[in-house]
Amino acid sequence: MFLCAPAPSLHLALRQTRIALVMSQVIATLRRDHVNLSRLLNVLEHQLTAFDEAGAPDYDVLEGLVEYFSDYPDLHHHPLENAVFRKLRERDPAAAESVGDQEAEHQILRSLSEKFGEAVRNVVMEAEIPRENFDHIARELLTFYRHHIKQEEVVFFPAAENALTPQDWIEIEQAAPGREDPLFGEKTGDHFETLRRHLMAWDRENQQT
Ligand SMILES: [Fe+2]
Ligand SMILES: [Fe+2]
Repeated sequence: MFLCAPAPSLHLALRQTRIALVMSQVIATLRRDHVNLSRLLNVLEHQLTAFDEAGAPDYDVLEGLVEYFSDYPDLHHHPLENAVFRKLRERDPAAAESVGDQEAEHQILRSLSEKFGEAVRNVVMEAEIPRENFDHIARELLTFYRHHIKQEEVVFFPAAENALTPQDWIEIEQAAPGREDPLFGEKTGDHFETLRRHLMAWDRENQQT
């Protein structure tokens, strides 16, 4: 006599495995994005120090940062988080309250990124912009981004993992914008080549120190 699991049990087990996988994939994607964004914020900070000390940041790197910030984070990462946040608000309004208004914070990030982009363009065109103004605009973006990421890691993601249902994660995954990361993704062109090479050099340097 053969002992084997009946088909419905197998089906249920497979479904539960898929659900667990979807939740961990969504959160893993968001966490991986944070690691990548944090690397870029470190690069930005380093460029600001170079600007303060020697007066010459790498303009190609700054332009690459501006372009990337208005691409993948705005087109994929933040919309995906907004979808998770809306579900959290439905499932656990008190937890959502403690997270704060994610969508509003993403709007602030978008306008700080735009302001930073304008400041970089002005510096590149050698328009009259006081150095302190540029520094202030860039550091405002840097500080807000880092604080936002930390808060999501510590408060938002654990709250979502705790409150959302398996079906919620499936719906979020199905509605995800699906924008490929043009810098850190698997299928990237050579559009961000300068920034990519800079990051590789930066990593090599930091491994040696
Ligand atoms: Fe966010
Ligand atoms: Fe985030």
